[in-house]
Amino acid sequence: MNELIKKLVEAYGPSGFEDQMRDLIHEEIKSLADEISVDPMGNLIALKKGDGSGLKVMIAAHMDEIGVMVTHVSKEGFARFTNIGGLNPQTFIGNRVQFADGTVGIIHADRATDRSKNQPISKYFIDVGATSAEDCAVKPGDAAGFLRPFLANGKRLSAKSMDDRIGCVVAIEAMRRLAQSPHDVYFVFSVQEEVGTRGAQIAANRIDPDVGIALDVTLTGDVPEAVPMAVDLGGGAAIKVKDSGMIAHAGLVKVMKQRAEEGDIPYQLEVLTAGTTDARPIQISNGGAAAGCISIPCRYVHSQSETVHADDVENCIQLLVAILEKPIDL
Ligand code: CO
Ligand code: ZN
Repeated sequence: MNELIKKLVEAYGPSGFEDQMRDLIHEEIKSLADEISVDPMGNLIALKKGDGSGLKVMIAAHMDEIGVMVTHVSKEGFARFTNIGGLNPQTFIGNRVQFADGTVGIIHADRATDRSKNQPISKYFIDVGATSAEDCAVKPGDAAGFLRPFLANGKRLSAKSMDDRIGCVVAIEAMRRLAQSPHDVYFVFSVQEEVGTRGAQIAANRIDPDVGIALDVTLTGDVPEAVPMAVDLGGGAAIKVKDSGMIAHAGLVKVMKQRAEEGDIPYQLEVLTAGTTDARPIQISNGGAAAGCISIPCRYVHSQSETVHADDVENCIQLLVAILEKPIDL
């Protein structure tokens, strides 16, 4: 599975610029779905039909990643930029970004008068090797993702975009393993999650599911001075109970716990005090849906070394398949 993970996490796809990711995932899933479509926002939707006795279930994993967008280029050829999604400037200096056409830039900052202070994003620039605005390979509006190779350190897997390519991997693997289901399952590889769960909102309004499950990363409480939280790296699939945008459907949480217990799948209960997922727009789409989320525990979220544990990834896949292959009694 590391091969698929490497392929997806190293690919380019900041929010709003998911085309290359969509092509990669389409290639992976084209033999696994009964119907595949792309909606006007760019969500990739793959339907696996059930036997007609079950529910309409939407699974959402977001294809986009955080990144930067060029705002203007100085006459000396340095590109200033704004954020796409939640960036931490502490991760900037010395980091590299890659644009859609492969152009690579390095990030540096204006001379700081006080190095103990965090500089605002406007003090940073991208150097792509240009000497003027005219010969600069990038222009205002061009978007870049971070550039960092995949690292497998034993079972600890690190990359710049585990959030949420690892959710995409869980969805793809579940599609592969789900031999039969009572449910019509719509696997949605959504766009623009990092700028406010926009893609999943449109997809949910169109699909109008009975049940929605997002697959996304969550924080862990097991690193120095972390926000206290009962989720550990390697501690099992995290079943979300609440985050700052959603309270998961209690009946669905119960079904998730039951399936985990029946299948001896290690799990942890997640209460995340900041952040939300695609489950939020699904829950409040149209007339509403029973929504929940299976989270992959992840250290250093929104840095370029987001780290997950291979056992947690496997447990999330097993849990998702166990939920989808049986009736869901809410
Ligand atoms: Co994120
Ligand atoms: Zn995410």
